Amino acid sequence: MILFSRVFSTTFLPKCVITCTVHQISRRNFCKKHPRRSLPPTILSEVFGGVKTKKIVSADFGKDASAGSDLERAVSFETLCLKEELLCKVTDPVRDCCHKVTIVGAGMVGVAIANSILFQRITSHIAIVDAFPKKLEGEGMDFCHGSVYLDDPRVDYDTDFCITSNSKVIVIAAGVRQTKGETRLDLVQRNSEILKNIVPTLVSYSPDAVILLVANPVDIMSWVTWKVSGLPVNRVIGSGTHLDSARFRYLIADRIGIAPSSVHAYIIGEHGDSQVPLWSGVNVAGVQFRDILPNIGLETDDERWFEVHKEVVKLGPTVRCLKGYSNTAVGLSVADIVKAILTNSQRVLTVSTLIQGHHEVCQEMFLSLPCTIGENGVTNIVRMRITEGERKLFQASATTVYDVQKDIKIG
Ligand SMILES: NC(=O)c1ccc[n+]([C@@H]2O[C@H](COP(=O)([O-])OP(=O)(O)OC[C@H]3O[C@@H](n4cnc5c(N)ncnc54)[C@H](O)[C@@H]3O)[C@@H](O)[C@H]2O)c1
Repeated sequence: MILFSRVFSTTFLPKCVITCTVHQISRRNFCKKHPRRSLPPTILSEVFGGVKTKKIVSADFGKDASAGSDLERAVSFETLCLKEELLCKVTDPVRDCCHKVTIVGAGMVGVAIANSILFQRITSHIAIVDAFPKKLEGEGMDFCHGSVYLDDPRVDYDTDFCITSNSKVIVIAAGVRQTKGETRLDLVQRNSEILKNIVPTLVSYSPDAVILLVANPVDIMSWVTWKVSGLPVNRVIGSGTHLDSARFRYLIADRIGIAPSSVHAYIIGEHGDSQVPLWSGVNVAGVQFRDILPNIGLETDDERWFEVHKEVVKLGPTVRCLKGYSNTAVGLSVADIVKAILTNSQRVLTVSTLIQGHHEVCQEMFLSLPCTIGENGVTNIVRMRITEGERKLFQASATTVYDVQKDIKIG
């Protein structure tokens, strides 16, 4: 190399050109001596007990890309050689885009949520975290491999919650699933413990995020999250009966042969057995069903519309019984809420929020009511003009949920 420099130094070439050429040749020699070795991803190496190396998440943006073993430094050096020759750096890219969405839980529901968000281009940056590495790594790789067909979203995945930093929305779909015969309320204690562990960490990485709960029992989990997060109440939302309302609209539409989106109908209260269908408000193009059929939804109704709601309650367990879990519809409904937040839309959606003081419920608890949703989370709760019967059912739903919630110990 010294000889090479000397030869050049006697030529007419300027010194900087000579120096640059010498450096490039020396780098190429280095790379030849240190050929690229494919690093096993951290998580796989943890799972299968391979070399302990730090994963470089999305190369440039990695939390710790410069640190690590000699092997890593060799690989980064090689990458830099080519990269420096290809790209003339002007500035660093922004690390976390302003509409980053974190999904906690890479189970059936978490993956369906990620699919819905990415396929609909709701955000271009998601982070997926899970406590268990193997499935997370598989799912994360699968998303990354398809990114070229999805307008190049950035998908980070790790068991380390630091990848969630600066999220705008955090969706929590981590938890244990309902087992056969177990009610949503039975899940409460197990899932509360998970939240107590993860929520403070998530908030420390994304103090300005809106947290959207999906894990069941979602109303109680939303209340637990609000309590342990210290966030203002508007920034904690449960997916609540947004999905139940969609199922309700679908079944009504199916009966009369029109599109579900043209049926306006809401289910309020618990995301569970005690939920309340608001038959008093069901309408198509402003035509109230109750004006046509005054006893619609009651047991005295000859057309037996009340069976539609009984079916709504059974749909979740039926899907779980048939395919082992339910994920597609919930994934779509959660993506719809995320979209409403990120676009600051102020759309009215039935989500779980603090309902204390509404419809004469005095307990501090979360249940679903129609709310306007925007970047701040819940901005308004619609004061529904419901019937006395519906109000009583809403209060009964509150009592059912509160009976379980009151025994949970926070802190
Ligand atoms: N709100 C709704 O409408 C609705 C609908 C369906 C399911 N759910 C609920 O969503 C939750 C997830 O359901 P699923 O079918 O995806 O279950 P799943 O078992 O397939 O996935 C749960 C995931 O959570 C992860 N997890 C557990 N503890 C964790 C922790 N401490 N930190 C990070 N990750 C952790 C697990 O590793 C697993 O990957 C359940 O509580 C389920 O009842 C809600």
